[in-house]
Amino acid sequence: MTTVALEAVTVRFGATLALDAIDCDAPSGRLTALLGPSGCGKSSALRAVAGFAPITGGTVRFGGVDVTRVPPEARPSAMVFQSYALWPHMTVAQNIGFGLRLKGMTSAERRRRTDRVLEMVGLAGFGGRRPDALSGGQRQRVALARALALEPKVLLLDEPMSNLDAGLRAQTQTEIRRLQTALGLTVLLVTHDQDEAMAMADRVALMREGRIVQAGAPEDLYERPESRFAAGFVGRTNFLPARIVGRSGVAVEIEVLGRRLTGVAAADLAPGAHEAVAGVRPDALGLCAEGDDALSVHVLHASYHGAYRTLHATVAGQAVDIDLPSGAPLPAEPKLVLPCGPQLRAYAA
Ligand SMILES: Nc1ncnc2c1ncn2[C@@H]1O[C@H](COP(=O)(O)OP(=O)(O)OP(=O)(O)O)[C@@H](O)[C@H]1O
Ligand SMILES: [Mg+2]
Repeated sequence: MTTVALEAVTVRFGATLALDAIDCDAPSGRLTALLGPSGCGKSSALRAVAGFAPITGGTVRFGGVDVTRVPPEARPSAMVFQSYALWPHMTVAQNIGFGLRLKGMTSAERRRRTDRVLEMVGLAGFGGRRPDALSGGQRQRVALARALALEPKVLLLDEPMSNLDAGLRAQTQTEIRRLQTALGLTVLLVTHDQDEAMAMADRVALMREGRIVQAGAPEDLYERPESRFAAGFVGRTNFLPARIVGRSGVAVEIEVLGRRLTGVAAADLAPGAHEAVAGVRPDALGLCAEGDDALSVHVLHASYHGAYRTLHATVAGQAVDIDLPSGAPLPAEPKLVLPCGPQLRAYAA
């Protein structure tokens, strides 16, 4: 069992607080994604797990054991760095074999394992090249192969697919997922791409400014964002000014675009708040041909996404994105149809 746990881990670089006492669990044999915007502390969190970050407070545990002071090479983890960190003077095979040699593996064994991982990442036959004779995406895959060759219990991946084209990225995602399940690896994957996090992870930890703001299954984050930030970062959300006009338990009644709507989920509203921001996904909005002029939709432009298209529009002066199935007709004078109840969430203004 190699559950990884960060308990109140703090990482500081001079005046910069890269991690602010974060708690994070990466369950054994599962893939946990650390998701968040640039500079929020994702790499710092991964480096803290690997043993490369200057931890100024808190504890890192592997399978319940405190490893905070254990050096990186003595941890059962392998990391793929955001910058790849390949040794330029070594060939691909030497890069991969270096860590295996330190483990005392014979040259025949090293060669066998190197060939196997190169095959796994689609680079069979590239062992004799040096990193400067590879494309960015190929270097990235060598870095992944080098980590896989160590057969770690905990695999730490820092944006391991950022340089791959869409096809190769999908293939690599599937391969990482397959290996993770087959070998029972505990994987921590850093990404700023919410689609990648949602598609690959069993659990997503959303970070902002050195903190974890929400963690859970991808569905939890998508369906029940707890803050305006989470609603905007995980999937797309329209935000509309709203007034709270009633409360019952965890639901509120709000006024938005001149409409009263009941059964709206209250996310992070303060108890006595009167002002709020209503969040609604573009695919929860609809159009109809007739209705209240106050809900007239003025389409600015449309973008095509295959199965659906997005209308970028304004309603009563508010910017609104509306997703419609690609074949759906657009009425001559469209009016907005708001959803009811929990498809709307009210956030702190
Ligand atoms: N070695 C360092 N020295 C000084 N500051 C650092 C160092 N490493 C990171 N930082 C700072 O710590 C903060 C968090 O950085 P980190 O690399 O963890 O972010 P990130 O979420 O991985 O960002 P990105 O998506 O851009 O890779 C940033 O403000 C960064 O400038
Ligand atoms: Mg980073």
